[in-house]
Amino acid sequence: MKCFSCLNTRTNDMHINIDTLSYVTDRSSVDTRSESSGRGSKSGILVDGKVNSPKPGGGARSFTFNELAAATKNFREVNMIGKGGFGCVYKGRLYSGQVVAIKQLNPDGHQGNQEFIVEVLMLSVFNHPNLVTLIGYCTSGAQRLLVYEYMPMGSLEDHLYDLEPDQNPLSWNTRMKIAVGAARGIEYLHCKISPSVIYRDLKSANILLDRDFSPKLSDFGLAKVGPVGNRTHVSTRIMGTYGYCAPEYANSGKLTIKSDIYCFGVVLLELISGRKAMDLSRENGERYLVGWARPYLKDPSKFGHLVDPLLRGRFPRKCLNYAIAITEMCLHEEANQRPKIGDVVVAFEYIAAQSKSHESRRAARRSTDSDRSRGESY
Ligand SMILES: Nc1ncnc2c1ncn2[C@@H]1O[C@H](COP(=O)(O)OP(=O)(O)OP(=O)(O)O)[C@@H](O)[C@H]1O
Ligand SMILES: [Mg+2]
Repeated sequence: MKCFSCLNTRTNDMHINIDTLSYVTDRSSVDTRSESSGRGSKSGILVDGKVNSPKPGGGARSFTFNELAAATKNFREVNMIGKGGFGCVYKGRLYSGQVVAIKQLNPDGHQGNQEFIVEVLMLSVFNHPNLVTLIGYCTSGAQRLLVYEYMPMGSLEDHLYDLEPDQNPLSWNTRMKIAVGAARGIEYLHCKISPSVIYRDLKSANILLDRDFSPKLSDFGLAKVGPVGNRTHVSTRIMGTYGYCAPEYANSGKLTIKSDIYCFGVVLLELISGRKAMDLSRENGERYLVGWARPYLKDPSKFGHLVDPLLRGRFPRKCLNYAIAITEMCLHEEANQRPKIGDVVVAFEYIAAQSKSHESRRAARRSTDSDRSRGESY
């Protein structure tokens, strides 16, 4: 049985029992009751209809602070690969030789123990190729650290904006591949586990990329168990990131899985336009991506305005039209008019396949043309 204690400065020590985790759907995201109250609980998360215990192979393991200090050479600044609301992220190498990303909770940050616990519990159970793997955690003293698989290409955000001079912009096909993978990750959360999980923090900074640009969703600290039974929504204090928040959630705090679909629509707009969801360096009227894009989204003759100039026109027009049409549906003001994630996955699988075969046909044409011109020069 795997337990770790989280020392909460305001309350007693808290024990989380990964083996008997159960969800509550009212106020807190995950049941963090004391070990004794959780003992013997048979409830758990259903994955594809089966009760899912922590991942095969044991899931996340506990590390000592010294192990993680050694892995990052004492959290040396050169090993720092990112910084977010939770704290700093370092690249490290474990004693086993495995390269990892280590997130260190900033004690003064706005995210705290609750998010840390939710992150550990959720990722200890989830198992999908489009969700980042949690290798372990550390709760030595006041320290809170999370150890993830290392994603060599960083986040989607790193590849869309403020590119380095030597950095190639993402091709259309890679963007579509990322859309498919991210949608499959959300489909897993909404449809393959029960009760469904509302991700709540879908954004380009939380889509991490593998060497071949396969995407994995990260940061589950804000995730929330979806409504159960006849309930249509979960009420919650409003959390998330500016520029991504669905209007009904921002206005009333009513959270449904359709709030995630809206966030996905914003990510799709970022992929298509190469613009940030919220960009304060732009002029008034262009700062909020969805607000800027709305008039263009409704009129196919204006779709061209939405396209990232860094794509230099290299995309199949038909696929762009489909992608924008689905984006517009995801961003529908009425939550229940937004599509289900399963339909979004199917649509983007189709667009990605069409885009790929268009690219192959172009490459074949190019090589025939160059053969011909070589023939002519002889
Ligand atoms: N597993 C990982 N592998 C490689 N790089 C990572 C990994 N996790 C995070 N990073 C890098 O660290 C950066 C910061 O991540 P982090 O999740 O802490 O913050 P964020 O998502 O940008 O913002 P916030 O946490 O405030 O919402 C990411 O943008 C990414 O570049
Ligand atoms: Mg993140």
